[in-house]
Amino acid sequence: MELTGLILNNKTEAKPSLTHFRKDNDKKVYIETYGCQMNFSDTEIVLGVMSRYGYNETTELRDSDVILLNTCSIRDNAERKIYSRLDELKFEKRRNPNLIIGILGCMAERLRRDLLEEKKMVDLIVGPDEYRKVPELIDNLAETGEKGIAVKLSRVETYDDIAPLRREGVSAWLSIMRGCDKFCTFCVVPFTRGRERSRSLAGVVSEAVKLAEQGVKDIWLLGQNVNSYRHEGNDFADLLNTVASELPQVRIRYTTSHPYDLSVKLLETMASHDNICKYIHLPLQSGSDRILKLMNRLYSVKHYMNVMKTARSMMPDIGFSTDIISCFPGESEYDHRMTLDAIREVRYDGAYTFLYSPRENTRAYSMEWNFPEEIRKRRLEEIISLQREISFDINRSLIGKIKTIVVESRSKKSDKQFLGRTDCNKSVIIPDNFVNNSCRQDISAGDIVDVEIRKANSATLFGEIRCVRTSLTV
Ligand code: 5AD
Ligand code: SF4
Repeated sequence: MELTGLILNNKTEAKPSLTHFRKDNDKKVYIETYGCQMNFSDTEIVLGVMSRYGYNETTELRDSDVILLNTCSIRDNAERKIYSRLDELKFEKRRNPNLIIGILGCMAERLRRDLLEEKKMVDLIVGPDEYRKVPELIDNLAETGEKGIAVKLSRVETYDDIAPLRREGVSAWLSIMRGCDKFCTFCVVPFTRGRERSRSLAGVVSEAVKLAEQGVKDIWLLGQNVNSYRHEGNDFADLLNTVASELPQVRIRYTTSHPYDLSVKLLETMASHDNICKYIHLPLQSGSDRILKLMNRLYSVKHYMNVMKTARSMMPDIGFSTDIISCFPGESEYDHRMTLDAIREVRYDGAYTFLYSPRENTRAYSMEWNFPEEIRKRRLEEIISLQREISFDINRSLIGKIKTIVVESRSKKSDKQFLGRTDCNKSVIIPDNFVNNSCRQDISAGDIVDVEIRKANSATLFGEIRCVRTSLTV
């Protein structure tokens, strides 16, 4: 592959070549990932690309030849985190001048100039559609000392042929599409990740089959808006149907779905497969039609509630989570109350709540926005505490019920316990063994277990094992 003109050489700042850079097959890359699941999935793609060029991942920062930060621009605080991390890494660079530090992801796309000029220690800036170039940019940098920048957005790149390098685990992310064309007025994603494009259906299915062969029991199909998936006449429901039929012993989930174009066909597909999790992350953003319009969300609260009602009528136990943005420009106390009302009406299992953060280039950026700190704090707290009460109520109502969970890992709090997940994406803590007719069976990651819920708080369920199953469906 040739280096293209996209790679701007920062000649005025040419550095001595990094002659000690290891060129054997033991180059070590250390990656930190920030932000959404899409970024975590992209990190696996970057590692997949780099492994072809002889790189190995290290989890020891000090052992690395290359440090990459895969960044997020969604809110200001996400970007500030990266700037302060770069300040910390300054010391690593001083300690080892041959160390290469690169910025990947949304911030690379949005802040390339700033990063090159302000953060002179950054050697490499690569946007989400240019990850194939990372190894060559590094080689070029090591040879010539020229900084590498590749930030062109693509209309076709889906990395369909790249085998992501995943850490072992029971659950895996599988990216099915990239980019977003919805242009919600608050969101930078269409600017940092570009236009929507889908992977081939065959590519997704074959990756899912490989994952199952490696022991993965829970696959998340990922996209900024999965409802936009299109490939050779197939839509997302077709893709979901194919993956679920191919792998009846694997749980299939997806995220994120936009309420505007979530189809009845998709709900019917979910209802017709036992192994498709009955759970939808469906961002509402606001409970006020006026604000939804200002956000360009393309649906009304009534439409949203109808989608939920239809889903619940087909799948009575379905779980929902959402995203809410508080204090969007122009949000009145009345609008805020409407959001609280909507949360009460839906009774979400969980919600991710954010304070609006102005993002350059977006349409909302030019809208007047000035909320006193105490209003922002109070509104956000009201949403969080209402949701916490609802989550607690829902979780408490599960006490005494039997749930099937897929065991994921040892619990972080105790190595005598394991953590598993229900179909509705609830975390359940269970003991690490099960005694049946005086016969002790140790639990391990990947087991499918029926548990009786015995205790609950707003975030977690605690269960007793009733039986260890041989399959999801029996
Ligand atoms: N400010 C606050 N929250 C935002 N989100 C996206 N852009 C912004 C912003 N500018 C939230 C939305 C989206 C989630 C991924 O992040 O709720 O659904
Ligand atoms: Fe951003 Fe809206 Fe696209 Fe989601 S649907 S990524 S919030 S523009």
